Amino acid sequence: MPGLWVAFERMLDRAFGPAANPLRNLGALGFLLFWVLAASGIYLYVRFDTSIEGAYASIQHLSRAEWYLGGVLRSVHRYAADAFVVVTLAHLAREWAAGRFRRFRAFSWISGVPLVWLLYASGIVGCWLVWDQRALFSALATAQWLDVLGLGAEPMTRNFVGVGSVGNRLFSLFVFLHVGLPLALLAGMWVHVQRLGRPRTAPSRALALGMLAMLLAAALASPVQSAAPADPTHLPAMLELDWFVLFAHPLMYATSPGALWVLVGVATVALIALPRFARGAAPVTAQVSRADCNGCGRCVADCPYQAVLLGPRSDGRRGWQVEVLAKRCAACGICAGACPSSTPFRSVRELVSGIDLPDLKVHDLRRRLAQALARLAGRPSVLVFACAQAARSDGLAGPGSAVVGLRCLGMLPPSFVEYALRRGAGGVLLLGCREGECAYRLGTDLTVARLAGAREPHLRANVPRSRVRVATCGAGEEAQAAAELVQLRRALAREPDNAHA
Ligand code: HEM
Ligand code: SF4
Ligand code: SF4
Repeated sequence: MPGLWVAFERMLDRAFGPAANPLRNLGALGFLLFWVLAASGIYLYVRFDTSIEGAYASIQHLSRAEWYLGGVLRSVHRYAADAFVVVTLAHLAREWAAGRFRRFRAFSWISGVPLVWLLYASGIVGCWLVWDQRALFSALATAQWLDVLGLGAEPMTRNFVGVGSVGNRLFSLFVFLHVGLPLALLAGMWVHVQRLGRPRTAPSRALALGMLAMLLAAALASPVQSAAPADPTHLPAMLELDWFVLFAHPLMYATSPGALWVLVGVATVALIALPRFARGAAPVTAQVSRADCNGCGRCVADCPYQAVLLGPRSDGRRGWQVEVLAKRCAACGICAGACPSSTPFRSVRELVSGIDLPDLKVHDLRRRLAQALARLAGRPSVLVFACAQAARSDGLAGPGSAVVGLRCLGMLPPSFVEYALRRGAGGVLLLGCREGECAYRLGTDLTVARLAGAREPHLRANVPRSRVRVATCGAGEEAQAAAELVQLRRALAREPDNAHA
């Protein structure tokens, strides 16, 4: 991700905390805005006159006579739609800038593309229901755009020009579309997160309240007003537009309907084709060892990309077995970190896990840990387990400390922490990515939950927590990581029984 963007996100972290940082929660904000639109939309719909003659007046009544509820909800509805567009485009830009569209993420990326168009279509049709001059302008511009395709026997534009041109049947179609398109959007959003384990579809309470307060403040400070009633015999020369939702119309008039079609088509094809341009060798994906798997399903629960499937055993015996879908696998190793057979205490020469990365086996992790422990000298000694995506850890190795590298912090079974402490380490520092920056979405969160005993496999209660520290430092935050090591050393030195220190 570009350095400037990362710096900006981290600045917002300092202001709001990662859980309430809007840039780290754009997808969850999208879901929240959808529900705000649905709730406010249901109220508006109940009070709305769905006939072409009564629509304008019913909205005006809500805005003026019942401004304190109907008017405020109308404005919240509009501003939530604008915010939804901004949040979705920012989410797209963020995922693109971070390169999160390749391989195992291709499904999330490609399924996101139609959401943009469904969102715009829902918003544009929503503007028509007010049936003011702006609505007529937008409906006419859309008809002109569609007419280029030459689908109907007659140009659609005719429906909007002249006395009595728009009847109740056509208006009912607008209402139908403004219910149907958001429902299709919701279905698309559901599909969009299907390949993600534990997707964050709800923002934190603080972020949700902040967003709701902003919408309410905007609604009260600048209530949305209709333009003059639509008059198909007279089109005004100048109109104020909602640029977030309706920007395509001026763009079309500045170019041509054909040019807008080309732009939409090229953008869609380019976005959908983007995952095809994956660079570098495909990762060596996780593999299952049936003999070492008891079918507990922990790897299924923790996989961030729904790449592990649980099914009945194929050998006819009772119980479950797992299978890895290679195309979905990110090769993060989080599944190996979850597997009960990944414990280094097993007295086997070759430590084989139920599920493992062939190029970064749990067995190798135990071997590298043994080598690192042998190198540990000086007091207090610290063993650092460091994620390769987090702050660089080379500076942490030195007298009294040794580093064991991981692809993701989540690939570390908690039993390795206990093992390191029992085999001579004074303390253990776990270096992972900043909250919200984990390259594999869940690595740091799962590790913290496992250490706290909130998730299996947990760190056993008899392991002294004062000797274990988790440092969440992103790329470039090497100084902070070094400071965390110093903090742990100081804590170890203060321990009453510091024989280990
Ligand atoms: C209605 C609009 C959208 C909503 C509500 C939405 C929502 C979400 C949510 C909730 C997540 C899971 C976040 C997490 O738990 O880590 C997600 C992930 C993702 N979204 Fe969207 N999204 C939308 C549009 C898009 C668009 C337009 C794109 C790009 C074309 C996109 C690309 C992605 C990708 C690639 C991920 C996976 C990120 C990862 O693997 O770390 N989304 N989205
Ligand atoms: S390595 Fe394991 S946890 Fe990671 S994506 Fe592959 S199967 Fe899922
Ligand atoms: S976590 Fe290990 S034992 Fe449990 S189902 Fe997965 S591979 Fe099998």
